[in-house]
Amino acid sequence: MGRASWLRPRYTRENGKPRLRARLGSVYSARMSRLLGKTAIVTGASSGIGKAVATALAEEGCAVVGFSRRFAAATLMQLPRPGSVAEVQLDVTDEAAVKARFDELPNIDLLVCSAGNAHYAPIVNSRVEELRAMLDVHIIGTYLCARAALRRMQLQKSGHIVNIGSVAAHRAFTDCGAYTAAKAGQLGLTRVLAEEARPYNVRVTAFLPGATDTPIWDDRPGFDRAKMMSPTQVAGFLLSIVARPGVAVEEVTVMPPGGSL
Ligand SMILES: NC(=O)c1ccc[n+]([C@@H]2O[C@H](COP(=O)([O-])OP(=O)(O)OC[C@H]3O[C@@H](n4cnc5c(N)ncnc54)[C@H](OP(=O)(O)O)[C@@H]3O)[C@@H](O)[C@H]2O)c1
Repeated sequence: MGRASWLRPRYTRENGKPRLRARLGSVYSARMSRLLGKTAIVTGASSGIGKAVATALAEEGCAVVGFSRRFAAATLMQLPRPGSVAEVQLDVTDEAAVKARFDELPNIDLLVCSAGNAHYAPIVNSRVEELRAMLDVHIIGTYLCARAALRRMQLQKSGHIVNIGSVAAHRAFTDCGAYTAAKAGQLGLTRVLAEEARPYNVRVTAFLPGATDTPIWDDRPGFDRAKMMSPTQVAGFLLSIVARPGVAVEEVTVMPPGGSL
């Protein structure tokens, strides 16, 4: 049986030399622009999962604004071009700053909340400041960014918000009391957000990864990081959700093949 016509190799001439060009190439480039013309915000875009997601979205044609505290630019000087990431400083726990930065964008098609922090200790040895710091970023930060985005998306009658939660919202891991409290609260917030966004044609996804090899693990030795997912793998899966029209993935857990470490 013959190969499908789009898989059949084609030969072209380049610099006088014959060059093989698979028709697959044109299919591939079409795939790489599934989000062309979309504007996306990614929080926590300076590291780990957020950085990989910002890169993956740009590779799909999105104009991406990435936020994190360590970025140098205080404001968005100019809108990013499709396929690029503009890096802008933002502390997601600062209500006035979140409003100001989000207002700089004419439209917001996608928000990915990936800003996060973690501190690991048995509850009896932990400090309330550590718990507050995690509630602040995961719950208050997600709340402020999602609220700002949804206000805009309600007017547009379209959009997608993806909150990066954690499998820790569902499973108990020792030394993760404060982190788990923050992630469980964030998941509850995300579920209500999904219901309130639905009438406006805005999709909301609770995206819950398991162990992913990022700097969030740097203070937690004793885990085999080779068994973790890579941020790029996680970002690739997230992309398949946001680029899929007509389907609302409301909650999804993504684990390394070996399961919990
Ligand atoms: N890695 C895992 O195994 C794993 C598993 C499940 C869920 N997650 C979740 O995935 C998300 C990303 O974590 P990661 O593993 O990629 O960690 P990471 O590499 O440490 O990245 C965390 C990011 O959050 C930013 N951030 C922290 N506080 C912020 C604030 N107040 N305002 C703005 N940005 C802030 C950091 O940038 P600045 O410091 O420059 O602000 C950084 O870009 C988190 O929500 C985490 O809970 C991770």
